[in-house]
Amino acid sequence: MEKNDTVIISDDRNSSLAKKISFHLDVEYKNTELRVFADGECKIRLDNVAKKNCIIIHSTYPPTDRHLMQLFMIIYKCKEDGANNICVVSPYLAYTRQDKVFIDGEIITINLVAKILASLGTTKLITVDSHSPNVLNCSFATIDLTAIPSLSAYVKKNMTINNPIVVSPDEGGIERAKKFARLINANILSLVKSRDRFTGDVSISLSEQLPLNKRTALIVDDMISTGTSVIKAIELLKKNKIGDVYVICTHALLLDDAKEKLLKAGIKEILSTNSIPNEFAKVDLSSIISDYFLKQ
Ligand code: R5P
Repeated sequence: MEKNDTVIISDDRNSSLAKKISFHLDVEYKNTELRVFADGECKIRLDNVAKKNCIIIHSTYPPTDRHLMQLFMIIYKCKEDGANNICVVSPYLAYTRQDKVFIDGEIITINLVAKILASLGTTKLITVDSHSPNVLNCSFATIDLTAIPSLSAYVKKNMTINNPIVVSPDEGGIERAKKFARLINANILSLVKSRDRFTGDVSISLSEQLPLNKRTALIVDDMISTGTSVIKAIELLKKNKIGDVYVICTHALLLDDAKEKLLKAGIKEILSTNSIPNEFAKVDLSSIISDYFLKQ
């Protein structure tokens, strides 16, 4: 990586993470000024980045479409200026769950996002624990980093957990949960989740009968959005006499009253990264992202 030719770019919302990355990499940080008008339209202002290798740090959590549009504007400006290349680091990339046609007539929305990113001139996209890292059908390079080793290291260092069992709330997240379980030397239990594609209702069942009596469950998932998946998992685990329950995720969206609902369901603690600012973000992604660039 050519330090003098590289800039880290972000808006205020992503500046805490972006500034830490610029510090680790010892490269210039450029802020994008953003203004939102009364009708919801936005405008951005960014200094000229001609001939620079631009690294844009920009998570697209809710309001998702506004944050995506702002990302598109920043990429567009870099391209217009004549940036050398444009690497988008979106630790939380929206629409990764819309990775299939679940009901006839739908679209694979993540592919639409990828097409727009490509058409704007994106040369690389970096995500962290993306819901579906391999699905992107795009012309630029994609890298999915993982926060699982850092999350497990945080648990080992800061939490005293007796007789743990790592639980994946669905089969889609099993590899992530297995990796976490290996790192803390625990067993794994995968639940089976099904979602009614018309109503959105979720139901969760056990795939195997394991003795759970008084064990400590560490539910590991890529994201908590409404909290429904985790709450259904907790209800099932409690019926099977589980002990304490901890929830560990990379992206804590925690929409509406998800936090209150989770606490009411009896969890001990939530642990997440800072891909989305929240009070449970104890694992910082800046070194994971910086290390990737330092190895290039
Ligand atoms: C879906 O398969 C994901 O891995 C998460 O389990 C899900 O998106 C979480 O959403 P919610 O918190 O709304 O249940």
